[in-house]
Amino acid sequence: MSDKFFQVAIDGPAASGKSTVARLLAGRIGGYYINTGDMYRTLAWTALSRGINPERDPDGVVAMLSSCDVHYRIVDGKPLLHRNGEPVPQAAIRAPEVSGVVSQVARIPALRDWMLEKQRECRSLGIIIMEGRDIGTVIFPDAKFKFFVTASPMERARRRFAQKGEVPEGATVESVAADIARRDEIDSNRPVAPLKPAADAEIIQTDGYTAEEVTELLAKKILSERV
Ligand code: DC
Repeated sequence: MSDKFFQVAIDGPAASGKSTVARLLAGRIGGYYINTGDMYRTLAWTALSRGINPERDPDGVVAMLSSCDVHYRIVDGKPLLHRNGEPVPQAAIRAPEVSGVVSQVARIPALRDWMLEKQRECRSLGIIIMEGRDIGTVIFPDAKFKFFVTASPMERARRRFAQKGEVPEGATVESVAADIARRDEIDSNRPVAPLKPAADAEIIQTDGYTAEEVTELLAKKILSERV
């Protein structure tokens, strides 16, 4: 294996803690962290801000792509997501309105085709830790390391509930659990690139473990194979 170019695929359902683990892991093993969910969220945010309803008008979303460049650029040594040359504000793409429609955006086959090359070209950066839903199955089926990071539905709802700015006003742990379940249902049952572990992915069940503990577990597996 080349030590300078390989991919770590981290897939899993919403609010499983995979973003935190992927970010920490990138720091721990010295790689670039790429969040593909943020790429889909950026398109959902753009559609909403242009008055396009992704559920009723998927063709409108596809038409929007020709005027929408979404890619990661290295800034101060780290990949930073840009849209049309401007950094994408995290607060905007994590707003509940965006979370409410992003699964509808991500299920559009032509949009996933458009995304595929943009995500694959990240491999030229070097060591990348890429998180999403279809990284081990579709984007990098030959990734050197594949993990499917998950947690029980209630644990995921509690984790999401604790993330300020990501849940609607007046939400309860139960309503957050219902939103997550609805999103998982759409993500898992779409015809193109559904959420599922790759046959050769290692399933990491994270209930009862901190993000640091999970990161350490993955880092040990990766580093032990690199020596
Ligand atoms: O990881 P996240 O919850 O921020 O992802 C937002 C949405 O994008 C989610 O509904 C699933 C979808 N997604 C996807 O379909 N494929 C990916 N590789 C990443 C995210």
